[in-house]
Amino acid sequence: MSIWSRLFLSVAASLTLCGAALHAAFSAQTPPAVEPGIEISIGGKQLHFDRTQLLSRDDVQTVEIPNDVAYHIAMTYRAVPLASLLRGQDFPRDTVIEAVATDGFAAQLPVDLVTNTDSKAAVAWVAVEPADAPWPDLPGKTVSAGPFYLIWTGEQVGTVRSEQWPYQMARLSTQPSPAARWPQLAVDPALPATDPIRAGQSLFATQCLACHKLNGAGSAEVGPDLNRPLSPTEYLAPAALHALIRDPASVRDWPDRKMEGFAPDQLSDREIEQIVAYLRYMAERQKP
Ligand code: HEC
Repeated sequence: MSIWSRLFLSVAASLTLCGAALHAAFSAQTPPAVEPGIEISIGGKQLHFDRTQLLSRDDVQTVEIPNDVAYHIAMTYRAVPLASLLRGQDFPRDTVIEAVATDGFAAQLPVDLVTNTDSKAAVAWVAVEPADAPWPDLPGKTVSAGPFYLIWTGEQVGTVRSEQWPYQMARLSTQPSPAARWPQLAVDPALPATDPIRAGQSLFATQCLACHKLNGAGSAEVGPDLNRPLSPTEYLAPAALHALIRDPASVRDWPDRKMEGFAPDQLSDREIEQIVAYLRYMAERQKP
């Protein structure tokens, strides 16, 4: 066979393969409707709840959120208390609940916070987006907060941080506490308990680690590592770094920007300074 006829045959063969692949792609366009679900793993024990199951439970309620963290307006949801979904489970010691969203966001939530049912404190709910009554798109996005969104009520709702309201939640699992899981986040044990750097470390774990890694630590896949290869304290002027955390668009803006920043009720100026102090301190502790 000449080189040309071989070439012809192989081109023809790949076209046929292409055709087959195209056909497969087109027929895959009408798959059986998949019911969205949420995976929960407690100390290795797997639970699964799907949308219909959750919305038909006895404990589903209508929950009003006066100032919704994701939508910035008043919202009303059908929701199930998270504590009911976790009831009867054994939590391994010194663990947190990691809530992972479909976009790679990963919040670390204290177990006593998510399992509380006393409305004098803060109570967590899994809001479920009904198939026949979809929620609006998130501000500036073309997707809603659904199908599952962690919302909070209770007298102490103000103590729940903005990044503890994960939307598009896909998975909840018990994990070792961030400090035990990722020693790369640690400060020198000799640092006094009252040092502002320690306050910054704990704020960082709640408000920043949900999107950013640091020294490779963290499970988020949304923003850049904030200490590798360089810390932003090494290339951003202090005032600009503070302004960027408060309102990234005030420093630079573009259509695909994802970080929203933090209003003063989500992080005070003092708290931003504590986080920056932690970042500056960690710049000296870069791990390759
Ligand atoms: C919801 C996700 C999210 C959260 C929460 C978040 N960030 Fe970001 N951040 C990003 C993303 C994504 C970028 C990259 C730019 C963009 O798309 O906005 C970024 C960029 C940055 C930058 C600029 C880095 C560079 O070199 O360009 C800094 C500094 C920063 N974030 C600090 C923080 C700090 C400090 C916190 C916590 C107080 C925080 N971020 C919380 C998502 C987030």
